[in-house]
Amino acid sequence: MDILINGKKVKTRKGEHVLEVARREGFEIPSLCHHAALPPDGACRLCLVEVEGPEGKNKVTTACTLEVAQGLSVRLDTPEVAANRKVVLEMLLARVSDSPTLLKLADKYGLLEMRLVPQGEKCVLCGLCARVCTELVGAKALTMEGRGTETYFQPPFGEPAKDCVGCGSCAFVCPVTCIEYKKTDRTIEIWGRTFERLACTECGEPLDLTPEHRDLIRRRTDLLTPAEMQLCGGCERRTTMKTMQRVVEGQQTLETARR
Ligand code: SF4
Ligand code: SF4
Ligand code: FES
Repeated sequence: MDILINGKKVKTRKGEHVLEVARREGFEIPSLCHHAALPPDGACRLCLVEVEGPEGKNKVTTACTLEVAQGLSVRLDTPEVAANRKVVLEMLLARVSDSPTLLKLADKYGLLEMRLVPQGEKCVLCGLCARVCTELVGAKALTMEGRGTETYFQPPFGEPAKDCVGCGSCAFVCPVTCIEYKKTDRTIEIWGRTFERLACTECGEPLDLTPEHRDLIRRRTDLLTPAEMQLCGGCERRTTMKTMQRVVEGQQTLETARR
């Protein structure tokens, strides 16, 4: 099915959303809470577009939650989109005033003046950390705590995260990098806990994998054997090549190689 983006006809598939289609076609739309591997959430309100309606009844909405439909026509750079985006950016910047990501966006989208009182917070409440932790990692270690301006994403009751496995995914996806994550040769520190880093069983290089994360992966999938999980990138490639050579030479079958 075809839709129009800024007047350009583009091909889409059923179930796609305007944000992913527009980006695939090379259009720029800012976002904070979008993650390609997760369903849309519409939390940050930054990815605004204007949908053209009959008799000029247009509406501004979020591109990440807007599903494609036959005849849909959206514009990305109308005065309404620009004005609404500035309001969203101003509210985000009032909450977290020192985020380089937000300051860059404010500059790019022409937010020249701040009228709101700065709140001095660190988190923009996009919710991405908790969604990634629950839906991709499967740990469910973070929840939304508190109310109103006192709302935060953190481990339940503000305690060290008992269900956290130290994978660091929440810190990597946080758009304003406000989750503290520290890595040494032996440990990973996050959410008030210190995790041991496993080492490659071939060469001893420290991995970005904790015993807790390895065990969680094992409970969720058997795609990787424990031996495969505990190899660094280089050793994994070497081991795979050696195994494939043995399979090709008839010394081993693919089935025994997977065990
Ligand atoms: S580091 Fe902990 S809280 Fe963060 S995504 Fe991984 S398991 Fe969840
Ligand atoms: S900690 Fe980061 S990822 Fe989590 S809600 Fe806040 S801004 Fe979003
Ligand atoms: S990316 Fe669309 S609302 Fe956040």
